[in-house]
Amino acid sequence: MKKYYVTTPLYYVNSEPHLGTTYSTIMVDGINRYRKLLGFNTRFLTGTDEHGQKIQQTAKERGIEPQQHCDELSRKFQTFWSTVDVEFDIFYRTTSPKHKDTVSKALDFLHQKGDIYSKEYSGWYCVSEECFYPETDIKDGKTPTGRPVEWISEKNYFFKMSSYQQKLIDHINNNPGFIAPKSRKNEVLGFLKQPLEDLSISRPKSRIHWGIPLPFDSEHVAYVWVDALINYAAACGLFQEDRKNEFNSWWNESFVQHFIGKDILTTHAVYWTTLLMAMDVKLPDQIFAHGWILNKESEKMSKSLGDVIAPEDIINVIGLDSLRYYFFSEVNFGKDAPFSVELAALKSNSDLANNLGNLLSRCFTLINKYYDGLVPEMPDQTPQVILDHVEDLYENIEKAILKNQPSDAIKPVIDMLNTTGKYLEENAPWKQAKKGELKEAGECLRVALEVARLSTLALMPVMPNKTTEILNLLNIKPSLENGAEELKKWPGVQTGLKLEKIKPIFPRIDLES
Ligand code: MSP
Repeated sequence: MKKYYVTTPLYYVNSEPHLGTTYSTIMVDGINRYRKLLGFNTRFLTGTDEHGQKIQQTAKERGIEPQQHCDELSRKFQTFWSTVDVEFDIFYRTTSPKHKDTVSKALDFLHQKGDIYSKEYSGWYCVSEECFYPETDIKDGKTPTGRPVEWISEKNYFFKMSSYQQKLIDHINNNPGFIAPKSRKNEVLGFLKQPLEDLSISRPKSRIHWGIPLPFDSEHVAYVWVDALINYAAACGLFQEDRKNEFNSWWNESFVQHFIGKDILTTHAVYWTTLLMAMDVKLPDQIFAHGWILNKESEKMSKSLGDVIAPEDIINVIGLDSLRYYFFSEVNFGKDAPFSVELAALKSNSDLANNLGNLLSRCFTLINKYYDGLVPEMPDQTPQVILDHVEDLYENIEKAILKNQPSDAIKPVIDMLNTTGKYLEENAPWKQAKKGELKEAGECLRVALEVARLSTLALMPVMPNKTTEILNLLNIKPSLENGAEELKKWPGVQTGLKLEKIKPIFPRIDLES
């Protein structure tokens, strides 16, 4: 079976989940579910990034120990993901003993290999971004992103990143899908046109105590990015003698894909990959950088903006399905996208309430009214206009997911629903049935019901709960693992199945009230 290992970034525990981090986690969850539907054996990792100066400071401001702060916040992330139907296999924490041990082993390996050395270093340091900036980037005491910096002089350990520059350029050029979308690949290649500097991988304990001590100098802790990046491979057993088979299976033999936001491209595409090269470990198969969710002012939604809407509040107004559906259907995954409650509600009303929801309630109501609720027979021949959609559906979903464009997996569903809506209007089974043309009306309703079944199956990864509810009404025991088989079936509902009377499955969202 094809294997697929997918990751989100590890989120900093200096804030609770917000709409930006919720977006990136929900997208990866849905993509992982689509991969299951396409027959992959999958493993999905998310988690929290818990070391570094920012976390140390946040805990200090709260007057508690950093570990207590991390435990509290990490738990919040973990429980929040289940409230938004995110189903991960691994929730990874960088303060776990196993992680600390693996980071220590990795650094030891690099040190012994001669890829880590120490020197005195001075530079502009930005606490909130946890990194040094070159003099040329600093304007009026601020980073290009407007954050304050301070001048720091200290002994630092460096990773010989520069020695891997050419190898990395070659790898990117020889593996066209390695960094995606293409614009991000070009961005990284552009960055690599300048000589790559060595990477400072340590911070003195005198300044930051909240980190993993270097195995060869306990007066220093590992730079938080190096510490955190190692998680992806550590979670599969990197440098762990007793997990060699697992590492082979989930890292070496799987399609390994990191989804990240575009703001953390360099750390992943350059730092992480060169570290892996130095450790003689296979590189991930793909690093995909998605865009940002923007607020009404077209700014990145983040915890530092006062006007950010709490995801819980959004869900209270429009419901979780509408939120997940908006992300999947409207957002071009590689690009920035606006978000507002109004936009999500409009989308939900048009595609879910008026389209799929309406189709379902028409089928259920009319079948109850004229056929005692028993699913009528299929016609001898399904109209070709409908079959054209049905036949390509699975393949279209597959194409969309393999190119990381979930909205293209939804579009064929909506197109199929639109064609079916027209087909219903043209045939008007409600009129046919009234006139006593029960065979014709029944066949038409059955075709529509089959389209509703397929659409629901195709949306399982997006709205796992709601689609399960619908498929249960059709007596289909849904699972992503047998989803492909179900999606390729035509027809798939049992003739004569008794349908219950239902209330609207996707109620219209009335924003005024
Ligand atoms: N801890 C690091 C990642 C380490 S991975 C080994 C980090 N954490 S973060 O919490 O600041 O951000 C995590 C991710 O959330 C980033 O990929 C970032 O792009 C994403 N997002 C934060 N706000 C976002 C939006 N408004 N929209 C989309 N994604 C956003 O960086």
